[in-house]
Amino acid sequence: MAERPYIVGNWKMNGTRAMLSEARAIDRAAQRYMKAEVAVAPPYTLIHAVHREAEQIGVGAQDCHAGAEGPHTGDIAASMLADAGAKFVILGHSERRGDHGESNELINAKIDSALEAGLRIILCCGESLDIRDAGKAEDFVLDQLRASLPHIKDPIERLTIAYEPIWAIGTGRTATIEDIKAMHAAIRKLLDETYGEEASSKVRILYGGSVKPENAGEILSTPEVGGALVGGASLSAESFLGIVVAAS
Ligand code: G3H
Repeated sequence: MAERPYIVGNWKMNGTRAMLSEARAIDRAAQRYMKAEVAVAPPYTLIHAVHREAEQIGVGAQDCHAGAEGPHTGDIAASMLADAGAKFVILGHSERRGDHGESNELINAKIDSALEAGLRIILCCGESLDIRDAGKAEDFVLDQLRASLPHIKDPIERLTIAYEPIWAIGTGRTATIEDIKAMHAAIRKLLDETYGEEASSKVRILYGGSVKPENAGEILSTPEVGGALVGGASLSAESFLGIVVAAS
């Protein structure tokens, strides 16, 4: 397994230029915690500005279009993100799937486009509470991944998976350590089968869903948890850095 924990802040639809001071504070402090790889995904409007502030942390985006260019009003191509300074893109987040009806097939096409543009990918998966209560969480998540994982092996080190149970996002409720351990192990097995163990070992599996400074230490020391995708707690430098410290 890749050893350096990857801590990624997903700002979602939050942030104006006033947030640049938080990005600056995160960047300066992250230089002291070299054990963790730290990144943030601001809204499109701030990517370039955060990129200019950031010396240490990675900057990414929260989505992209599947096409390279063309008549798609309001959309952004992966190559445009790279041009603005993004190094990665989050794809398949449950809020994109829910708010915009994104299918696994569309997400797969976006991944191809983002890889082509040279970006790293954070591919999200996760089940609803109904699916978990029906005992089908593992099957559902593995089906999501089977239908959206890239087919090519070469850029495997550019792939990261984020397991985010929908019922744990923004609710203050986290999955139990046993649930996280079991799901991450199942995802690792699928990656081993899909890419072979050596290639799979280069793919980190992050956990996301109400990660905070108080629970990050325990979550990040769970087997197969290679980092965290953080929403709400990434919006202030103080709480986000609390998670980075827990990972360091
Ligand atoms: O992308 C981040 C996740 O949706 C987690 O969000 O930390 O606010 O629960 P949260």
